[in-house]
Amino acid sequence: MKKGLYDALRWDHQRLDEVFEGLLNRMHAGDAEAAREMWGAFERELSAHMEAEEAVLLPVLDRFDPEEAGTVRAEHLGIRKLIAEMGVAIELHTLREERVEAFVRALRQHAAHEEEGLYPWADRELPEPAVARLLDRLAAARDAVKRAAHRSSTAAAGPRAP
Ligand SMILES: [Fe+2]
Ligand SMILES: [Fe+2]
Repeated sequence: MKKGLYDALRWDHQRLDEVFEGLLNRMHAGDAEAAREMWGAFERELSAHMEAEEAVLLPVLDRFDPEEAGTVRAEHLGIRKLIAEMGVAIELHTLREERVEAFVRALRQHAAHEEEGLYPWADRELPEPAVARLLDRLAAARDAVKRAAHRSSTAAAGPRAP
């Protein structure tokens, strides 16, 4: 049965990709402050996306295909390492184009890998309660990022109402 999970997960990848594109545009425009804020939002959202996959999808995949689950975990580990390096480089204003390209490459390869294997499988096999939990988590992550973005854009405008 098709549950729409594939589309929802794929959409999350596309949106993350768009946020990252926006970040690159800010960097190229030399707007370091905006770039730092966008990086914060992107990083939180990507982390929440991976955490949701690890909490809901991978424990089920472990029972079907432990090797594939291990591969996805290893790719997440690699991405987290790159996220940490990117974060430090952005903070220190030492981010170089090659590092950005390596990061985007790793991220897109991982997304393509999941969209070929993990996501079609999840769409077919993931039990309904887990589907609902995963969709909830992804939505909550997006809301949290939106709220944070709103806070940072209104914080500059003056004191907020309590
Ligand atoms: Fe992932
Ligand atoms: Fe993913």
